[in-house]
Amino acid sequence: MKILVIGTGAREHAIIHSLHRETAAGTAAHELHAAPGNPGIAALATLHTVDPLDGAAVTALAEQVGAELVVVGPEAPLVAGVADSVRAAGIPVFGPSGEAARLEGSKSFAKEVMAAAGVPTAMAHVCTDVDELEAALDAFGAPYVVKDDGLAAGKGVVVTDDRAQALAHGAACLAHEGGRVVVEEYLDGPEVSLFCVCDGATVVPLVPAQDFKRVGDGDAGPNTGGMGAYTPLDWAPSGLVQEVVSRIAQPTVDEMARRGTPFSGVLYVGLALTSRGTRVVEFNARFGDPETQSVLARLATPLSEVMLAAARGGLAGLEPLRWRSEASVTVVVASEGYPASARSGDPVTGVEDAEALPGVHVLHAGTGLTETGELVSAGGRVLSVVALGSDLADARRRAYEGVARIELKGSHHRTDIARAAERGEVSVP
Ligand code: AMP
Ligand code: GLY
Repeated sequence: MKILVIGTGAREHAIIHSLHRETAAGTAAHELHAAPGNPGIAALATLHTVDPLDGAAVTALAEQVGAELVVVGPEAPLVAGVADSVRAAGIPVFGPSGEAARLEGSKSFAKEVMAAAGVPTAMAHVCTDVDELEAALDAFGAPYVVKDDGLAAGKGVVVTDDRAQALAHGAACLAHEGGRVVVEEYLDGPEVSLFCVCDGATVVPLVPAQDFKRVGDGDAGPNTGGMGAYTPLDWAPSGLVQEVVSRIAQPTVDEMARRGTPFSGVLYVGLALTSRGTRVVEFNARFGDPETQSVLARLATPLSEVMLAAARGGLAGLEPLRWRSEASVTVVVASEGYPASARSGDPVTGVEDAEALPGVHVLHAGTGLTETGELVSAGGRVLSVVALGSDLADARRRAYEGVARIELKGSHHRTDIARAAERGEVSVP
């Protein structure tokens, strides 16, 4: 199949890596294209230049390469309606319409859909001025949870005990045009990401994963796009996936269909397992990064079959997904200064050495090439080192051996990805 993947991150590299593996295993013969892609993706796919936010340009590219499936990775093009343009041209596309992607694009819209569908989530107030903001902060009390209503690349949320900081963040969100801010009840308990593949009607859950959003060990410091992930979650209740599908994902998909804006693609359900039960922290309308890197490493069913079935409305006819029994750990290597800033242009070496380790592969995100073809950093999250191992301890050890072989001046990474889970120290309150 000719497949075009839109995006530039390690998530898109993970998707391409999985599709390439199908060809390498001889179960399929794909011709892979990506735009804009990155230097890692370039080893497996033909790269094209395109503005990912321009639906007409993406559609023209898809037609030019004869794509039989287009996969839109990131949220910004989805919210901009790029999948609609491609779909309107009659090309199967994996990813929701712009209307359906509002589940991620507007936190207040997501809250409205959840309320209509009876989905358990944090209580919330939507505020449009500072008086409402202050009243909402005082109604819930500390810890304060303050979220920008719109897309903010993982940086729109502040969770803090400091009322002044909460107020300042909320006021900053209100300050931009049409600014709205959502103040929420604080959810205790560990977080879980569950990706649900949807075709507008049917929901097929992948395996749950856990993400590490804060920049530092022990969840210290500011939120980032995500510093690492692992799966499986041996500590999670055994009925969790079924519960999330029946109480959260399916009612949401049904509600979106009822509204005439069916949801297809990945409904990313971000959960907190709290003392009062399972609650939705957020919805996203796409695969999560870096959870995807770990989840897809374990998927034994060909990914292309899953994505094509979702794009064509055929998930009900898909065989149950098959999974590798190994555990998978992903550690993100970030550039100096991330997430506040990101140094670019420093040489990155050791990728091949890391990949020589058994069970280890390295996915690119913020990388670039110099004129002479040397790999350099070009963004905040530079690489994802992904390892499969017989259990979490084995996968962790391999992932960190891989990280140790990567050289990038000033880079940093968390050293505690999957550590609490490996030690049996994660519990649901
Ligand atoms: P979001 O962008 O909504 O996923 O929020 C980013 C991160 O902020 C989440 O992954 C949580 O770690 C934290 N967070 C968001 N909402 C809450 C909440 N209601 N209670 C506690 N932590 C939260
Ligand atoms: N892993 C967090 C996200 O993709 O939003």
